[in-house]
Amino acid sequence: MPAGSGDRIPYAAVMFTYLWKPLLRRAVVGRSATVRMRRGASPPFPQDMHRPGLYLHIPFCRRPCPFCPYNRTVYDRDSYSLYERAVHEEIDLVASQLASREAGSLYIGGGTPTVQMDGLLRLMDHIRRNFTLTGDTCIELHPSHMDDRCLQSLREANVTQVSIGVQSATDHLLERIGRAHSAATGLDAAKRAAQFGFDSVNTDLMFALPSQTIDEWDADLRQVLDRDVDQISAYPIFSFPYTVLGRSKGLSRVPPAPGRKVREMLDRADLRAGEYGLKRCAVWSWARPDAKRFSSVTRHHYIGFGPSAGSMTGRHFYVNTFDVQEYAASLPKRRPVALVMPVDRRMEMAYWLYWRLYELRAKGGDFAATFGPEASLEATFGTLLRPFQWLGWLNRINGDYRVTNSGAYWIHRLQNDFSLGYINRLWGKCREEAWPDEVIL
Ligand SMILES: C[S@@+](CC[C@H](N)C(=O)[O-])C[C@H]1O[C@@H](n2cnc3c(N)ncnc32)[C@H](O)[C@@H]1O
Ligand code: SF4
Repeated sequence: MPAGSGDRIPYAAVMFTYLWKPLLRRAVVGRSATVRMRRGASPPFPQDMHRPGLYLHIPFCRRPCPFCPYNRTVYDRDSYSLYERAVHEEIDLVASQLASREAGSLYIGGGTPTVQMDGLLRLMDHIRRNFTLTGDTCIELHPSHMDDRCLQSLREANVTQVSIGVQSATDHLLERIGRAHSAATGLDAAKRAAQFGFDSVNTDLMFALPSQTIDEWDADLRQVLDRDVDQISAYPIFSFPYTVLGRSKGLSRVPPAPGRKVREMLDRADLRAGEYGLKRCAVWSWARPDAKRFSSVTRHHYIGFGPSAGSMTGRHFYVNTFDVQEYAASLPKRRPVALVMPVDRRMEMAYWLYWRLYELRAKGGDFAATFGPEASLEATFGTLLRPFQWLGWLNRINGDYRVTNSGAYWIHRLQNDFSLGYINRLWGKCREEAWPDEVIL
């Protein structure tokens, strides 16, 4: 952080509180207009889409956690069969509409993807038969559903990166948030995964949990880092106190953490990760410098399969219906797209910038490689980014922007606020109605 920028934080806080929403909206759409997603026909795939990432959503858990906003339901064999049949059909349908079957990566999330191993392996196999995967296959794992046989099968199925939801290494906190496993189970899962030869093992931790002290958080960090993992991702627990999601899912029982506590805990994560040789690689993540980075959110274009999966084609952003029965009923005839939003070039550029800043670095050269040699990061976003340089949140070096540690905290705040509003409006509505007419984001 440049000298003196600490003094500007109160001003920064005020500016951020009042201005980030209009600024973000302006950055996204180039004007202060309302952003909506509407019900409409499934958008066509652009002919020039280059190696999109693939996403597969598996919306089942054995014992759903009360704090979790993701689209998931209690596992039962019949619903899973219905779901599985429909995903196979969706994969066939989408593949038949694409100009190219090359895909950059596959990410499998949930829910609990390994809740039914046979089904998962069949789905992965089906994706591989339909697409040529040129990059990583990544999967989210739940500590209670990843015995050694499961890990071995994933290795044999060419999974290269795994992320384990350890959440906390403190039993009373796991109990408090309604998590169904012990600290020992989570830590053992991380240790076992690290021995299976994946290219990267990430562990998810949540912090700023109700009543959690800084010493408890410190102990959590050390215990996980002691398990030899390649990466840790630390998320402050987000809650939805006054929202549709909060009311419908009991999430309001988790009180929001004060900003100062979140910052202190993030700083502690930075300190401890550094002591174990991990470097910050994203706003919420630290990784070994020699390991591949595990990331769920940073592919530029992607196509999602499964209920609630999102897709970004560069021309449209759309989400599938959240409802498993409705999802299955629409296939194999129609793609199960619930809401669509057209994306213009400016919006796509802003989307690119948002995720590059999340990864702490936006390179002018990458911008031109993505949007064409005439596209300039500085000309497009320089004016918008200059105040953040002045505040000490960004440094500009040789045409690239780098996020400082102080900036990482504020981007985290922005993402947290953004997530609360965005997730609540979009996911809240889509949970209530299988085919909503419109959602104003
Ligand atoms: C889809 S879940 C993980 C997969 C797996 N089902 C599990 O629970 O271990 C992805 C991650 O989101 C994070 N997460 C879920 N709900 C959260 C919340 N309310 N606040 C912050 N992080 C949350 C957790 O760290 C979790 O590991
Ligand atoms: S955190 Fe994981 S196990 Fe818990 S409900 Fe969400 S997806 Fe399921």
